[in-house]
Parts: sequence; C-alpha cells; structure tokens
Amino acid sequence: MSDAAENKFFHTPVLLNEVLEYLFNDKLEKQIIVDGTLGGGGYSEAILKRLNENDLLIALDKDLEALEHSKKRLEKFGSKVKFFNNNFADIKTVLLQNGMKKITGLVLDLGLSSHQIENEDGFSYLKDTKLDMRAFKKDAKTAGDVLNSYSKEELMKMFEDYGETGNERRLADAIIEKRKVNKFKTTFDVVRLIEDEYRIDKKNMIKFLSKIFQALRIEVNNEMDNLKKVLNDSIDMVEEGGRIVMVSYHSLEDRIVKNFFKEMSATTKKTDNPFYDETVTPKIKILTKKSVVPAFEEIKNNSRARSAKLRCAERM
Ligand SMILES: C[S@@+](CC[C@H](N)C(=O)[O-])C[C@H]1O[C@@H](n2cnc3c(N)ncnc32)[C@H](O)[C@@H]1O
Repeated sequence: MSDAAENKFFHTPVLLNEVLEYLFNDKLEKQIIVDGTLGGGGYSEAILKRLNENDLLIALDKDLEALEHSKKRLEKFGSKVKFFNNNFADIKTVLLQNGMKKITGLVLDLGLSSHQIENEDGFSYLKDTKLDMRAFKKDAKTAGDVLNSYSKEELMKMFEDYGETGNERRLADAIIEKRKVNKFKTTFDVVRLIEDEYRIDKKNMIKFLSKIFQALRIEVNNEMDNLKKVLNDSIDMVEEGGRIVMVSYHSLEDRIVKNFFKEMSATTKKTDNPFYDETVTPKIKILTKKSVVPAFEEIKNNSRARSAKLRCAERM
C-alpha cells in the first residue's frame, strides 16, 4: 500500500480546511500548537506544513498504535514536532514537564480513528473480539469490567447519558441476568444478548448496537470528564490571541464545548441575589457563532463526517 493510501486507510481527517482556518491566528509571531488527538496524523501533517522554522507542534495520542503510525508519517518534519503518548486531559502537566507554559493553539478531534474502530479489541460489534475498548491500555477498566461489575443504576445512567438507548431499565436487567450465568467476555456476547432479548429487525438492531457500544466506549475512556478537564486547562495554557478548536461527533460533547465557551465568554455571572449579576472579564471570544459542519461533498465522501461539529474560541 502506498503511504497516502495507508494514511487514508488509517483515518480520513474531517473538516481539515476549516480546522486550519480557525486554528491559526496569523497575528501571533511564533506558533506553538497542540494537536491533542494525533490519530492518523492528518491534522498534524497539515499543521506542520503551515509552520515556520521556529514554530512547534506538540502531538499527543493516548493510543500507542496511532502514535507509532503517525510518528513514522511525520518523521520528515524532524524536531518541528514532539510526540507524547498521553491523555489530552494531562496536556498541562506534559507541557510544564517539558518547560513550556503557553501555547498559541489547541485542537482536539474527539472520538476514535477509523483504524481503532476497525482493528482494536472491543470497539466494533461486527467482529468477535475481547471486550476491551480501552484506547489507553494502561487504563484499568475494560468494557467487559463495566458490563460484569456495574450496578443496575450505574448501567442505566451510562446507557441513558452516553447512548440515549431508551428503555435503559430493560437493558440493564438483561445484562445483569446474563452475567449471573456467564460473564461478558467478547463483543459477540453483547450482540447475542441483544438478539435474544429484543426481536428487532436488522436495521434497528444496528442502530441499537451502535448506541450501546458508543455508551460503553465513552464510559471506559472517561471521554466526557477528559474533555471538561482539558477545556478548563485551556484557559491557563492558551496565550492571548491563541485559538481553541474543538471537533466533536456526539451531541453531549458538543454541548459541553458550547456551554464552556458560553460561560467563559460571558461578561456577567449569576449570584445568589436574583436582582444582581456580577460583572466579570470574559476569558475568550467565540469565533463560531454557530457550529461549523462539513459540506455535503465531504459527507458524501466520508460518512464519518456526518455528525461532525466544529467550534472555535480565541483566548482574550
Ligand atoms: C478522530 S481521531 C483523530 C484523527 C486525526 N485528527 C487525524 O487527522 O488523523 C481521535 C484520536 O484521538 C485519540 N484520543 C481520544 N481520546 C483521547 C484522549 N483523552 N487523550 C489522547 N488521545 C485521545 C484517539 O486515540 C484517536 O487516535
């Protein structure tokens, strides 16, 4: 396979031109950009092509396979890029440990790469693999652990919050009954449970399984808490005029970004007194009034782009 074909096979970047357009503030002299979700390296390569000699890209991925793939892809850029196998929730610590305090841009392309979904254990219900789903293999909890140990309430909350599956009680009950007989070990244990419990047609089955697997993935990888943490830290890390660009694929993620931007750009803050709002200095300026979505052409060529939403803010 040629390099270009292999990169495409690994992951096709979504909203790439729009990311580049928002990420750079050309008024800033020296660019230090963080790509917190390196993945197949599509964004990083395009960013590196735009950087000048003294600029720097910091690229992180918690998935070692993604990191190794992209290190190879980007080796031609030499010392202009530094790689880290870390969670983006820890970027602030990683930067400080490496003697860096401020950056001029942060981009996150949330979720998983196509490579992970298709090749790593537990992510796809189309293949019978171990119920793992950890993008970061040092994390303790697998999807199997979640299904085999969570209480009924915990399961219901997870499926409601992260999968919006509907009728979460029935699903949680079915899981608990099944694990009394046999523990969940592989992805097909989940598929078989759903087939036995719900007599639904193939199309609805696929939709339902997608929601269940999505909820498990978000839970196992602590995706929402990681996002909240990095957003909070971005206020300390990004220098004045620097940009924060978030690409999300799930309504819950988008809502977290939208609400955070709204809160940080506000000029007043509610107090206990209903007649008095405190005046505060906004920390960011929102550059995307409405979320930016891919053009029809992009969605036609890459179905993964369908649910993508980009939001950008500039640090003040
Ligand atoms: C959608 S892909 C990024 C694709 C990339 N923009 C490209 O052009 O190839 C998301 C990547 O983020 C990584 N990731 C997800 N959550 C992460 C986290 N909390 N910390 C670090 N990497 C994370 C995944 O392992 C995956 O490789």
